[in-house]
Amino acid sequence: MTNNHYDLIGVGIGPFNLGLAALCEPVDQINALFLEQKPQFQWHPGLLLENTSLQVPFLADLVTMADPCSQFSFLNYLRAKSRLYHFYFFEKFHIPRREYNHYCQWVAEQLSSCRFGERVEAITWEENRQDFAVKTKRVDGTHFTYHCRNLVLGVGSIPHTPACFQNVPSERIFHSAEFLHKRDRAYQCQSITVIGSGQSAAEVFYELLQAQETYGYRLSWHTRSQGFFPMEYSKLGLEHFSPDYIHYFHSLPQDKRDQLLAGQDLLYKGISFSTIANIYDLLYERSVADNYPDVQLASAMEVKEVEKAGNGYRLVYRHLHQNQPYTHETDCIILATGYHDKIPDCIANISHLIQWDEQKRYIVNLDYRLALTQDIPNQIFVQNGDLHTHGIGASDLGLGAYCNSVIINTLVGRSVYPVQQRNVFQQFGTLT
Ligand SMILES: Cc1cc2nc3c(=O)[nH]c(=O)nc-3n(C[C@H](O)[C@H](O)[C@H](O)COP(=O)(O)OP(=O)(O)OC[C@H]3O[C@@H](n4cnc5c(N)ncnc54)[C@H](O)[C@@H]3O)c2cc1C
Ligand SMILES: NC(=O)c1ccc[n+]([C@@H]2O[C@H](COP(=O)([O-])OP(=O)(O)OC[C@H]3O[C@@H](n4cnc5c(N)ncnc54)[C@H](OP(=O)(O)O)[C@@H]3O)[C@@H](O)[C@H]2O)c1
Repeated sequence: MTNNHYDLIGVGIGPFNLGLAALCEPVDQINALFLEQKPQFQWHPGLLLENTSLQVPFLADLVTMADPCSQFSFLNYLRAKSRLYHFYFFEKFHIPRREYNHYCQWVAEQLSSCRFGERVEAITWEENRQDFAVKTKRVDGTHFTYHCRNLVLGVGSIPHTPACFQNVPSERIFHSAEFLHKRDRAYQCQSITVIGSGQSAAEVFYELLQAQETYGYRLSWHTRSQGFFPMEYSKLGLEHFSPDYIHYFHSLPQDKRDQLLAGQDLLYKGISFSTIANIYDLLYERSVADNYPDVQLASAMEVKEVEKAGNGYRLVYRHLHQNQPYTHETDCIILATGYHDKIPDCIANISHLIQWDEQKRYIVNLDYRLALTQDIPNQIFVQNGDLHTHGIGASDLGLGAYCNSVIINTLVGRSVYPVQQRNVFQQFGTLT
């Protein structure tokens, strides 16, 4: 192997590919390189708020569900940071999001296979060499080309902004993904509107509600969803985030999978019970003695139009039940309108190698290999781009180690990280 030729190159270093890098580390057969455009590991930095926690137990770290003895486990991180006793007395499964980010940074620092500040710009297929050429641009402006036999795309998703916001001056309109970077702009306004009712919206709203007495703004929280509903967190509901459910879901015809997904929003979106309780309790406290805070909450309201109005903006909603327009003026808009998958530009030159479904989505095999148009020994894997093929667990951190075990086992052709068959009490599909 020359030092720019690899068995595997990973595009992007979020939790999924970082977990893969950690699990590949002890596997001699895989000479891997992972490339990340950001200068260091940063997990959704614009929403790393204090007092917010991971929505999965700490066991969903980068490695434990595949190899509890790994040196890259969260418990070993605690030991390295002399925090084991603190964690022991903390007595919580759900760790602060800021600590999860710090733990991931600790893992990334130890992995020579992870390179930061290097964006993958283009990937081409080199027929004569039977490998992929991966062209990158580093932060200092220099370019580099690596070669690899196999690829793994771990580019995550990107913030979704409704189309009507695209041509509006955006000084005081921003996505929740940028909240911490732009929060001060909101604090200076007389009125703020948060749109959406997922976990991001709820955390942003709660943060603004806590600061409302200090800054004195009017606060509105509007969403297209049917209500401010909680995300599923019952034990039997959680069994849908298991390898067993992935197997079942993947076995269904694509049109049935699409139909199922359309009705499963509240299994993986929505607000945590504790955030809803925090918000409600603060509203209750603030409204004592008829002193109602200047707050408005409304659901079933879809933003249809937005335009500049004086120093602020005018929003036009359509109420989904009453089918009526509603106009609302505000100085600042925070779009907590979610994220969407995007096929990365860097694979444009290998698009002809990839099989696409009718909706221009990847066709992803059960073992996370993309279906290809040519019979070549090389593979392209995808992480967290498989909601439509593998179901609601696609972005779940608790399934990252499973997904990475499958990828590694497939790459080396043996069971390096054994994958257990029966993990849940219920049966998905017809009874056997
Ligand atoms: C605020 C927030 C909190 C969440 N909390 C939880 C939670 O508690 N539990 C849970 O199960 N799920 C959670 N999720 C969902 C999901 O697990 C996370 O979004 C997770 O970060 C997905 O990991 P990833 O590796 O797929 O992608 P990402 O974390 O998005 O990482 C992808 C990386 O690829 C890089 N990249 C993209 N293109 C290129 C390129 N061309 N070259 C180089 N690098 C590139 C990006 O810079 C990025 O760093 C959360 C999501 C959000 C938005
Ligand atoms: N603490 C944490 O760990 C944490 C924090 C943040 C996020 N997350 C996770 O990250 C993922 C994304 O969460 P998210 O909250 O960013 O997004 P989300 O769950 O996808 O929520 C987006 C919200 O925006 C609404 N919306 C979209 N377009 C709209 C429009 N035009 N008008 C009005 N409302 C509109 C959606 O309504 P519809 O319901 O109609 O689509 C929905 O309520 C989730 O899996 C979540 O659990 C986790």
